[in-house]
Amino acid sequence: MAAGDAYLTRRLRPFTTTIFATMSELAAATGSVNLGQGFPDTDGPDELREVAVAAIREGRNQYPPSAGIPELRRAVAAHQRAWYGLELDPDTEVLVTVGATEAIAATLLALCEPGDEVVMFEPSYDSYAACAAMAGAVPRLVRLHPPDWSFDADELAAAAAGPRARLLLLNSPHNPTGKVFSPDELGQVAALCAAHDLLAVTDEVYEHLVFDGSHVPLATLPGMRDRTVTISSGGKTFSFTGWKVGWVCAAPALVSAVRAAKQFLTYTSPAPFQLAIAHGLGYAPPVLRGFAAELAAKRDLLCDGLAALGYDVFRPAATYFATTDIAAVAPGTGARDFCLALPERCGVVAIPSSVFYDPADPAAGATLVRWAFCKRDPVLHDALARLASWEP
Ligand SMILES: Cc1ncc(COP(=O)(O)O)c(C=O)c1O
Repeated sequence: MAAGDAYLTRRLRPFTTTIFATMSELAAATGSVNLGQGFPDTDGPDELREVAVAAIREGRNQYPPSAGIPELRRAVAAHQRAWYGLELDPDTEVLVTVGATEAIAATLLALCEPGDEVVMFEPSYDSYAACAAMAGAVPRLVRLHPPDWSFDADELAAAAAGPRARLLLLNSPHNPTGKVFSPDELGQVAALCAAHDLLAVTDEVYEHLVFDGSHVPLATLPGMRDRTVTISSGGKTFSFTGWKVGWVCAAPALVSAVRAAKQFLTYTSPAPFQLAIAHGLGYAPPVLRGFAAELAAKRDLLCDGLAALGYDVFRPAATYFATTDIAAVAPGTGARDFCLALPERCGVVAIPSSVFYDPADPAAGATLVRWAFCKRDPVLHDALARLASWEP
């Protein structure tokens, strides 16, 4: 047991120091280019910053309603209608949260009894297992396989059929792989939810950062609207990851369950940023598609550069991240050791994908590395030039 774990409950002990903190410290200590954490190195639209500033100046500084300001709830409902044809009542079917992070925590705390199973794909965003643990729930993992990150339909069916399976947590577009689940895959997920009476929870924070194909919310599939909790946030869409404005869309009974948990986590979310994100959600589709197009060019820059250096690249269809297999570049080296050596040897930070897999399976993702490309072009060029100095 590590010293810092002396007081920590057993259920949270697996979730102490994250690799992200370790790698960020290494980045600072070595002056490395940080392609580890997923945040852009330039802010989103000035116009949205000005809306937040004006809101502060105009006195929108006291507790807003717990469910979120009406302007944002209406904007989320209008966004779901305009983009996906989903009709939502902004008063009973939309809840504003402190980022998607709080939405995920509140949803699992609200919907899971201790011992319930949460079916989710692996690799997975690291907060899912931690939030499941806080709720006393147990992840039931279904593996995604490179190069296309497909899953075995029988493995998913067996997980969904488990006697304690309570809900299925789907992240599409998916971190860390950049996979966008296909309509056929979504159909399989929906059919299993219906067959086993599972709730679905979807994390769609990368919904507008899709380069190939298009994002289809699970809630739009037949029979799924009323059994799905749809989660998203403004951080990635508008390049303001520090604002932490998220939301939940679901049928009234599910929203009120999640709201019961949310009110005792944070009660409410910062008002000025809610107003700014409400403004952004009203942007016309070409504006949001323009953000994705800029990011797609960065994806290509980094992926082409890594491929030219000999990495086996799994080019993502969406998100901020590309995954590579490092076996050809660093034969015999595990991704964790590679990433720990990289700052010192090349001045670049990346994340070993093993952190997105069950720690009980050390072989999982052992040679995979995740790189963030949501950075300025000169930064990406610099990173690639530095990586060229790697010698096995
Ligand atoms: C898949 C996924 N979900 C949720 C989040 C967190 O979103 P937010 O910043 O809105 O809390 C992230 C951030 O990296 C993410 O990658």
